[in-house]
Amino acid sequence: MRIIFFAGKGGVGKTSVAAATGVRAADQGCRTLIMSLDVAHSLADIFDLDRGLLDQGRGRPVKVHPNLWIQELDIQEEINRNWGDIHHYLAGLLNTTGLNEVLAEELAVLPGMEEVSLLLYINQYVRQRRFDALLLDCAPTGESLRFISIPTTLEWYMKKLFKLERTIVRCARPLAKRLTDVPLPGEDYFNALERLFSRLEGVDRILSDPAVTTVRLVTNPEKVVIKETQRAFMYFYLYRMSIDAVILNRLLPSGIREEFFSDWLTSQGRYADLARGYFHPVPVLPVNLFKGEILGSERLAALAAELYAERNPLERFFEEEPYRLTKENGRYRLQLKLPFVVKESIDLSKVSDELILRIGSYKRHILLPKPLVSVKTVAARVDPPYLNILFGGIDS
Ligand SMILES: Nc1ncnc2c1ncn2[C@@H]1O[C@H](COP(=O)(O)OP(=O)(O)OP(=O)(O)O)[C@@H](O)[C@H]1O
Ligand SMILES: [Mg+2]
Repeated sequence: MRIIFFAGKGGVGKTSVAAATGVRAADQGCRTLIMSLDVAHSLADIFDLDRGLLDQGRGRPVKVHPNLWIQELDIQEEINRNWGDIHHYLAGLLNTTGLNEVLAEELAVLPGMEEVSLLLYINQYVRQRRFDALLLDCAPTGESLRFISIPTTLEWYMKKLFKLERTIVRCARPLAKRLTDVPLPGEDYFNALERLFSRLEGVDRILSDPAVTTVRLVTNPEKVVIKETQRAFMYFYLYRMSIDAVILNRLLPSGIREEFFSDWLTSQGRYADLARGYFHPVPVLPVNLFKGEILGSERLAALAAELYAERNPLERFFEEEPYRLTKENGRYRLQLKLPFVVKESIDLSKVSDELILRIGSYKRHILLPKPLVSVKTVAARVDPPYLNILFGGIDS
């Protein structure tokens, strides 16, 4: 099984590149599923399928080509399939707070439900071996980072808070009943959460296993887009995902002679060089701007031909682990690859068995292996492109 995320800023060409990769992989004989992680689905549009504006195939995989399926989640269908008791409790809660029943049903969708449903599918498909490749067409950067942070956040919640919350609620229920009409979650709610969590088990390992999962960042040769790509590059590493290519989309073909485009040609050339420097040694794959919109399998195959040439699109183009734990002179060092990170933006603390690392607006809880739990002091040192976390103080 091979899993590839296509991520990047809004509008850079993620869906087109994911779809093109799917067409190419399917042509090679791999059973390939492209899943849309974006609530504003546009996969079906890019395949130019003849179907209704709001038709999402009931959120199931739809075959679009021999060996190729697309899947666009439908949150209402997912609620019926996966979120029954949890949704029921939330809707009841909103209802007692004064919302009418229909509205409460509608609003009882928690942020993250759709993403967790997707993780459930990923886990299920990997176990069933129903597909050889899963290609994930991501939402714009911020949301896709939230998506990949969900497994660690959930693991943390289940380990640290779930049991406590359940016990508190159990103890408080008789009292709360006398004092207020607002219902506390019942055992059904907690059981449902527990079941859901057990179905997610292992998904974090799949996503952080570089032999299975890699990220391809799609970008354009423009300053603002490249800046966002640099941040995404760092944050994906923070969440332990391997990046195996940067796709530089929409380059103006160099043959264009029109006066109007000359500034664009110069600045694109400059940013393309910068991008190669920034992301080295991860390969940067260029794609020219096409003459028209890229719609339908044939045009997508042309995009794939330009992007991958003779290469197998499912190959790992670059291999390096984002994290490495080593021991030197009796002291442990956790080395994280975090290019572009600056010391001032790092906030590090250790609480019993976990390390809390905050970089900019993203925070990650790293559960530590046993030998590190008892070490009292931790220190960070930036050695570009690495962040070294030293257990037991800084080296002299
Ligand atoms: N190399 C290219 N040449 C010409 N048009 C392109 C190219 N790449 C993408 N496009 C066009 O740009 C538009 C946006 O592409 P696409 O939907 O793939 O971007 P996206 O990153 O998925 O956007 P969103 O963030 O909204 O999901 C589409 O109309 C697509 O056909
Ligand atoms: Mg898209």
